[in-house]
Amino acid sequence: MSFRVTPMLRAAARRPVQPVLRTPVLKRRFASGGPDVPPPPPPRSSNVPIFLGVLGVAAAGTAYYFYGTPGSAKDTGKELDSKIRGAVATVEGKVGLRRGKDEYQKVYDKIAETLDAEGYDDGSLAPVFIRLAWHASGTYNKEDGTGGSNYATMRFPAEASHGANNGLNIARDHMEKIKKEFPWISYGDLWTLGGVCAVQEAGGPTIPWRPGRIDGFETNVTPDGRLPDASQAQDHLRFIFYRMGFNDQEIVALSGAHAMGRCHTDRSGFDGPWTFSPVTFSNQYFDLLLNEPWQWKKWKGPAQYEDKKTHTLMMLPTDMALIKDKSFKKYVEKYAKSEEAFFEDFSKAFGTLLELGVPTSQFAGEPWNMGSN
Ligand code: HEM
Repeated sequence: MSFRVTPMLRAAARRPVQPVLRTPVLKRRFASGGPDVPPPPPPRSSNVPIFLGVLGVAAAGTAYYFYGTPGSAKDTGKELDSKIRGAVATVEGKVGLRRGKDEYQKVYDKIAETLDAEGYDDGSLAPVFIRLAWHASGTYNKEDGTGGSNYATMRFPAEASHGANNGLNIARDHMEKIKKEFPWISYGDLWTLGGVCAVQEAGGPTIPWRPGRIDGFETNVTPDGRLPDASQAQDHLRFIFYRMGFNDQEIVALSGAHAMGRCHTDRSGFDGPWTFSPVTFSNQYFDLLLNEPWQWKKWKGPAQYEDKKTHTLMMLPTDMALIKDKSFKKYVEKYAKSEEAFFEDFSKAFGTLLELGVPTSQFAGEPWNMGSN
């Protein structure tokens, strides 16, 4: 049995302390609102390195004992390693060893730079980045605390191959390039920050966000079937989103992300965009859903709706459920009337979604407003 230095130990050795100087951020058309949260306090005492050292030794011991042993002992080792990583993330956040907002802002800026993609879909990667962030988080089950964005388990074929995740390799591959430049960021933090950046840079609301997610193992992958099935209706939407802890209003607000992007026959089987401006974050989805006449599309693909006038837009059966159900419909009406109300509610619900499954202890403080000033 050979001794292995875990990535955690290597990362702990490399990790710099909080940077003191603030570098200017790129000027973008999106301006973040709200005050900056003060940086976390500096390391409090010399006990910190000792504590991290103890955790490190514990991790090394775990790795030494479990890796190389077959079957379930190995899995137990990984679970334990996940727990230790979580504990390290907690300590790191609490004592101010995590990188500061400026460092994460650099990652945000890099993602923002890569959003424009001529020749890809409607010219932007923003929609598929939003979908990646959502699918990485939406596996959460509030009953047992499994799933969510903490472990970035879509890195593993066992989850990447879930039908609902078809096509998200495109977003993950782009994110991999960013990760190469900023290897210290966890995948969960990177993917969720990608979603935040995509919404904001497309003209959407500020999404509260903070780092603290850790990279887990394949043993953290949740079973297929946790994400919604677009061919179903309101009962299914409630079953899926209530499991995550959301209510009717939040289900409708989150669905407004379909203002962005389109369906692809080679990914979901469905086809077309929901709105006339699929790279702009707006309340157009609700307006069209409510006010356009829709009909079943006559084609060989899965049952979906098309707009009667231009036959260029689409709605999924689950989108249409939002106006068939009285409780949902009142929020569709509200958001169709007021983009401001939609932005406010979307910001809260999406911010919550991106933190599902992450123990609060892993966060260092209140969420930040990322973006350019
Ligand atoms: C309410 C249940 C939902 C269902 C059934 C659903 C289903 C789908 C389907 C079938 C696609 C097309 C995938 C493709 O063919 O490329 C899609 C795309 C998309 N979804 Fe959803 N979705 C839901 C909720 C959400 C939520 C909560 C968000 C984000 C907050 C979201 C954001 C997106 C975005 C941005 C796209 C476009 C991706 C692209 O253009 O590549 N969806 N969704």
